[in-house]
Amino acid sequence: MPASSATQIDADRLWYRLSELAEIGKSEGGGVTRLSFTKEERAAKELVASYMREAGLRVREDAAGNLIGRREARVEEAPAVLAGSHVDSVRNGGDFDGPLGVLGAVEALQTMDERGVQTQRPVEVVAFTDEEGARFSFGMIGSRATAGALTPEHLANEDENGVSVAEAMRASGLDPEHIGEATRVRGSVYAYVELHIEQGRILESRDLPVGVVTGIAGPAWLKFTLTGEAAHAGTTPMNLRRDALAAAAAVMGRIEREAARTGTSVGTAGQLDLSPGGINIIPGHVSFSLDLRDIDEDVRNDVEARIMHEAALLCEKRGVELGTKTLQRLPPAPCSSLVRNAAREACEASGLVPFELASGAGHDGMHLTELCPIGMIFVRSKDGLSHNPAEYSSKEDCAAGTEVLYRTLLELADGD
Ligand code: GLV
Ligand code: MN
Ligand code: MN
Repeated sequence: MPASSATQIDADRLWYRLSELAEIGKSEGGGVTRLSFTKEERAAKELVASYMREAGLRVREDAAGNLIGRREARVEEAPAVLAGSHVDSVRNGGDFDGPLGVLGAVEALQTMDERGVQTQRPVEVVAFTDEEGARFSFGMIGSRATAGALTPEHLANEDENGVSVAEAMRASGLDPEHIGEATRVRGSVYAYVELHIEQGRILESRDLPVGVVTGIAGPAWLKFTLTGEAAHAGTTPMNLRRDALAAAAAVMGRIEREAARTGTSVGTAGQLDLSPGGINIIPGHVSFSLDLRDIDEDVRNDVEARIMHEAALLCEKRGVELGTKTLQRLPPAPCSSLVRNAAREACEASGLVPFELASGAGHDGMHLTELCPIGMIFVRSKDGLSHNPAEYSSKEDCAAGTEVLYRTLLELADGD
């Protein structure tokens, strides 16, 4: 671990690359859309591959489309340290969610190269395929494949145009039959560390540029389908309606109440479809999504059970049929003491307070916990905003986080 607190990474180069990558998939309104297996995601990976080569890394793409840049070590067969994030985005997202972790890791390895640093273990930067889940209603496709947890059912999931994950893979030159080749064996990875924007307000409220993550909240994603009866809005008395949207609104009210009651859980209905959708027609059919999370799995499951119970009662009372489907369900993922300690020491060596906080957002590391110790470093987000074109972290804060990542990687790649 270097003793000096002087910044060693190149903040200008990092900022330039972040700005260049942000142009791919950007709309006139400033939002970024790079869905998985699209030409935008491909262009982003090609640009990152060129940065990886500039950093002296050996570049390859695995069977899941994960882009990997490797830096060799003194001991070539030693388990590799992985660092990375993703370059796909949500619809109309921001510039930093994902790219900071990928480009920060490239910057850290390029700094090692320029400083002639040799490490005991190889270090790899990974840009994971489809972390966000914006296209197929479940995310972390690349990290699931890395962990051997991507199933044929996952590959059969379809986007809104009826294109399955397997078909999308084929269209982008990947062979889903070979997905197993992306799986890493236990023991081949020493640790995984991800630099990411916080996407919340905790660091900002404490006036801190960087934090060390203790664990990642577990998301449950569900789809609710409510079927009532479409009927004339002018002639159907209020007591004779089977209004699917009115029932959905009542269920959403319960979601808000049950999540808020705990003080820690968060519940969001972010997608809503209704039909027929006429101004003078009672809605006969509604579907909406639920994203429910908590850092404590029992609390989340308890909230979910209460919502389900209330939803069943509300729909029954209104003569509306209720269907529910689980889209993805992950347990919370604790961060390892190995990575947390290394990141805390790296903060101190960089002259920063080693403040710890939990992650409300999901991240690829959640799938790697069975494979290796994981950890994360957060960078302050302006106004806590993310999944929004206004998402912003300053050049100085991105550089501070990348410096911490650099020092964390040195410790993980060379420590005992
Ligand atoms: C990804 O950003 C998620 O937490 O949904
Ligand atoms: Mn992300
Ligand atoms: Mn995100």
